[in-house]
Amino acid sequence: MDPVQSFDVVILGAGAAGLMCAIEAGKLGRRVALIDHADRAGKKILISGGGRCNFTNLHSLPENFISENPHFAKSALARFTPEDMIALVEKHGIRYHEKTLGQLFCDRSAQDVVTMLERECTAASVVALMGTSVVSVAKAEQFTIETSKGTYQAESLVIATGGLSIPKMGATGFGYGIAKQFGLRIVECRPGLVPLVFSDVDRDRWCDLTGLSIEVMATAGTGKRASTFREKMLITHRGLSGPAMLQISSYWKPGEVLRLDLAPDRKVITPMVERNARRDPGAIRQLLHTTFPGRLADRWLEEYPPTAWTNVALTAMEEQIHDWQLTPAGTEGYEKAEVTAGGVDTAELDAKTMQSRKVPGLFFIGEVVDVTGWLGGYNFQWAWASGVSAGQAV
Ligand code: FDA
Repeated sequence: MDPVQSFDVVILGAGAAGLMCAIEAGKLGRRVALIDHADRAGKKILISGGGRCNFTNLHSLPENFISENPHFAKSALARFTPEDMIALVEKHGIRYHEKTLGQLFCDRSAQDVVTMLERECTAASVVALMGTSVVSVAKAEQFTIETSKGTYQAESLVIATGGLSIPKMGATGFGYGIAKQFGLRIVECRPGLVPLVFSDVDRDRWCDLTGLSIEVMATAGTGKRASTFREKMLITHRGLSGPAMLQISSYWKPGEVLRLDLAPDRKVITPMVERNARRDPGAIRQLLHTTFPGRLADRWLEEYPPTAWTNVALTAMEEQIHDWQLTPAGTEGYEKAEVTAGGVDTAELDAKTMQSRKVPGLFFIGEVVDVTGWLGGYNFQWAWASGVSAGQAV
């Protein structure tokens, strides 16, 4: 039987947050073991951003994150900013570009980011134990972590095992299990940044338009709780996707109505009323064709023909284009979700260090925490920032 190996810090999960935490702690002279059941580190980084890793967003602000406590992320985000990440990427000579809306992607490949993090780990003398399953975690004076490759002890234990999205890539509910084991509350988890699924009726009406994409303004919630995104929407064979739908999915709650403005800032039908122009099916069809791709224009007219040729009826038609209300049947679930919303309740953690308030020495970072970023590099920025914050405190 191998003797127990001692470290200052054991980090479970060698994804974005765990790697960054290991680097920071190692640089500060802590003896760090980084344990992951996967055969290699940073697997999600490799598939991120279509293989180019959208590694940060220039405009990362606390407002771009969803959490029961919207203030929680502020401290960590200020401690490690997008500029800090850019400096690290530049130090390693990685070329990158801004795609849109402050989203920074590697020019070449996401592998560059993983290689960078692995090199930093080596320089910081981090001991990486890949292909290692955790059997149990216990705490007496120190944490004892029993694994498939031996037993480890450490004063600090960092949980960086991510969320439930993409189970086929090794995502597990492990982190939530540890939180529960130590009596920490979990904010109910749900898939985020995920395509939405139509009801059966809507699927029959719209899904043969698969592949069709338009710019929309999508709103979930009402009043002060309303959230709106103006981006592209894509019709899929099951429902709706594209950036606008992925963004709004993180706010949408099952059973809620979703409101879509299909022609933001544009008047489609009212010019006909205002100019008192010819009113007949051909003229309406022409107006819709100038706004929407042809197949959508025709389908819209089939589904929502004018009820009369009066000003009132035509104005109602205009209103419906700007306030199309539908209730999705659900989402495509964790199989297709980019992130898991919800997670370890931030009220349980210190915002500066990510340390549990109840269990000294126990830290939670990255996606396992109830902080979920928008689409566009925000989730990695949270992983880096929360990783650095914990890395400085362990
Ligand atoms: P992450 O999931 O990265 O890492 C967790 C690690 O823990 C994994 O290595 C896993 O193997 C390990 N682990 C899990 N259970 C374990 C157990 N029981 N024992 C041991 N190890 C265990 N974000 C962004 O900002 N820009 C982008 O371009 C993208 N693109 C993107 C594409 C796709 C397809 C997905 C699914 C997600 C994204 N994201 C993204 C989101 C981003 O990938 C995500 O938010 C971060 O990877 C979260 O980092 P963590 O380190 O918290 O978890």
